[in-house]
Amino acid sequence: MDVLERYAPLVDDFDAFRAACDRPLPSVVRVNTLKTTVERARAALDEAGIAYEPREWHDGLLALPQDQPGTNWPYMLGWIHGQEEVSAVPAEVLDPQPGERVWDACAAPGSKTTQLAALMEDTGLLVATDNNLGRISALRSNAERAGVTNVAVTHEDARNHSLKPFRAPGSEAGREGAPYDRALVDVPCSCEGTIRKNPDALDDWNLDHVHGIAGVQKGVLRRAIQTTREGGTVVYSTCTFAPEENEAVLDYALDEEPCELVEFDLPLEHAPGVTEWGEESYDESVRKAKRIYPHHNDTGGFFCAKLEVTAE
Ligand SMILES: C[S@@+](CC[C@H](N)C(=O)[O-])C[C@H]1O[C@@H](n2cnc3c(N)ncnc32)[C@H](O)[C@@H]1O
Repeated sequence: MDVLERYAPLVDDFDAFRAACDRPLPSVVRVNTLKTTVERARAALDEAGIAYEPREWHDGLLALPQDQPGTNWPYMLGWIHGQEEVSAVPAEVLDPQPGERVWDACAAPGSKTTQLAALMEDTGLLVATDNNLGRISALRSNAERAGVTNVAVTHEDARNHSLKPFRAPGSEAGREGAPYDRALVDVPCSCEGTIRKNPDALDDWNLDHVHGIAGVQKGVLRRAIQTTREGGTVVYSTCTFAPEENEAVLDYALDEEPCELVEFDLPLEHAPGVTEWGEESYDESVRKAKRIYPHHNDTGGFFCAKLEVTAE
């Protein structure tokens, strides 16, 4: 089955989309501002003879010519971290502040965890959860290499995230069991948008898997909303195009939990969330979500939505 063909009705320039999906992905690194500055990282790359091209919307993202950002010394020192350009979007949209309590619900291997820690200036509390022990090892080693100290790692199913160790002082007076100011929900998905990095990504694609993983996504997003204080922010992201895993999950959360979708700026080309897919129609507000297609900015595919937790 030609999986990408099913998105022809959604994508603005489908030929450009297909052509972009067939090209290899540019290799991008993010400067780790916990260990260095953008200027020093650029100087180190200059010194190492590694060419780079800053991305326009984020001066800490640099496109490198080679595929292996792990082989240079600025990487070994934790000054830079290999991270796909669009993968840097959700943490910027979440915009965590120093001193806050933040939950990274599906955190391994930690690209976004280390980015969140840098945005929080390594203060406050960052709880990073994953249910895969092997990937948690990678998360720990990435956090260590990046010099992150404000992170607590938990190994559990995020749908049943336990608050016992992390309850905020005084939270009994507010929304019971909602200690977090913000949560990032970067869920497991069918990974259609990673086809440029992993040409085999769609080999085992099937609709049953899409529906199955959507059940997990719904559960994790619900838990994130339940554990975030009223007025707090939850960002939902995937690297897939399937509306079943994107807008349908948001539509479900809007029905089940006290939350609303909010607008946000994104200085990258994108399309709005879709409200119709097959027989399904979704809440109008899912248009506020953003779909990033590979041909838009020469990146992988991505989906990102920002929610605010409202009164029960
Ligand atoms: C898209 S990846 C996360 C990438 C990560 N946020 C980053 O930027 O490096 C999804 C992660 O969710 C984890 N996962 C899958 N099901 C989960 C569950 N029920 N609870 C917690 N984590 C889960 C997977 O092990 C995987 O590491």
